[in-house]
Amino acid sequence: MRPQSQASEIEHMPKQRSNFICQQCESQYPTSYGRCPNCGAWNSMIEVVETVAAAPPAPVLSLRRTAPRALASVDTATWGRLSTGGGEFDRVLGGGLVPGSLVLLGGDPGIGKSTLLAQVCMAMAATQQVLYVTGEESSEQVKLRAERLGVIPPNLLVMPEVELSVIIGAIEAAMPAMVVVDSIQTMQLDDLSSGAGSVSQVRECATRLMHVAKRTHVPIFLVGHVTKEGTIAGPRVLEHIVDTVLYLEGDRFHSYRLLRSVKNRFGSTNEVGVFEMGEEGLREVANPSAAFLSERGEAAPGSTVTVTIEGTRPLLVEIQALVSPTSFSMPRRTSTGFDLNRLYLLLAVLQKRVGLPVGNQDVYCNVVGGLKINEPAADLAVAYSTVSAFSDVPMPSDLAAFGEVGLAGELRAVSGARERVNEAAKLGFRRVVVPASTAQALRKSAPIEVIGAATLSDALRHIMPRDDSGRGARAKREAAIAE
Ligand code: TYD
Ligand code: MG
Repeated sequence: MRPQSQASEIEHMPKQRSNFICQQCESQYPTSYGRCPNCGAWNSMIEVVETVAAAPPAPVLSLRRTAPRALASVDTATWGRLSTGGGEFDRVLGGGLVPGSLVLLGGDPGIGKSTLLAQVCMAMAATQQVLYVTGEESSEQVKLRAERLGVIPPNLLVMPEVELSVIIGAIEAAMPAMVVVDSIQTMQLDDLSSGAGSVSQVRECATRLMHVAKRTHVPIFLVGHVTKEGTIAGPRVLEHIVDTVLYLEGDRFHSYRLLRSVKNRFGSTNEVGVFEMGEEGLREVANPSAAFLSERGEAAPGSTVTVTIEGTRPLLVEIQALVSPTSFSMPRRTSTGFDLNRLYLLLAVLQKRVGLPVGNQDVYCNVVGGLKINEPAADLAVAYSTVSAFSDVPMPSDLAAFGEVGLAGELRAVSGARERVNEAAKLGFRRVVVPASTAQALRKSAPIEVIGAATLSDALRHIMPRDDSGRGARAKREAAIAE
């Protein structure tokens, strides 16, 4: 009966199966595609050879029997929030760190994720034991960084390790008050056949850490790198596994960093913390508006202050424009921190509805401080800066502006108008130009002068020197100089 025994032998041997997984969207296919049929990403497929074990793998969680119980009787006393030692960080987390939570901190390489979490570790280790697991650096490197950040507390443990089962063992043995795993892409489980950083490793490692956090009530931070190429599984894969997702954003060439919560099972997702990277790590910025305006010089043409809302926070930022005659057949338009398509649109509106001849001008737009503005409330300030740069007339220095510009040249209301006006008042601005409908609603209660404008032309009338006839921009400039 040889053939039969052979067949049963094969049945009990581990089987190998090849799968192709898109590193961007996690879709699986039996064959490889140059472009993912689901999300359209190019060259994002990697082959994952799965070994299907003959015996099913042991479950991660011992399958405890659970029975339904009254929700009212669930004990949440152990869920008091822990302070991370920094007000900004606590606020972004929704009021502190929840025991047993798994928090993902994502961000570009080099933006300051390890620095931020090392600071949290050092603050928390002052009173409790904290474990910092690193798969990217040696203990010496971690120490050198920590020394820059302050005095290293004796309760801070470091563990250079990538094998997750060893790490889980260490967490369960030490039961620290908090754990950092830096980064999740370097972690691996030996019982999975794919390499570290692949979608299956990242997902499985995060899932197991989630179980550990829930079982032991130890809060765990995961660091996740975002890469554009998609060769490393980005934190997006993890977003649905973890409790909280934070992103550290900023421009590597500027010192400001925004910590933003994009998912939070224990608080609002609208929180933003502002930090500044310095010689001694990340420092909280108590008054971000003042910081963003700190380098604003004496009234130069092409600069306008607007109020943007980051999360729930109003922030004052300076928007600069430079306009100069083009020497190309197609004028150049570039924008930093503001959507380029939106700039095109605003220039078309300025040309068509206001008559500003920008068709043969290069236009450069810049949001100062490395901030990225994603809301149309900055439209009015971009238009103001462009007109001011074109006519070489500086904007009044006590004036701020916000409002969305429509295609017909009309100004449209934006949310949070009251907070924006109050923030401008706090920073010493005396006038703010807003859409007419907003002005009506605000005028009585506003602490400073609120000027309403129904259209962009209306709004320009409030900043330009009087110009009675149809004279051009040059004449306006001459009038301004003569006055
Ligand atoms: P890091 O936290 O290692 O970034 P990530 O973990 O996100 O990859 O730090 C990034 C940069 O911050 C690095 O280029 C050096 C700089 N840095 C400072 O400017 N000041 C400091 O005190 C520290 C620790 C780092
Ligand atoms: Mg790092």
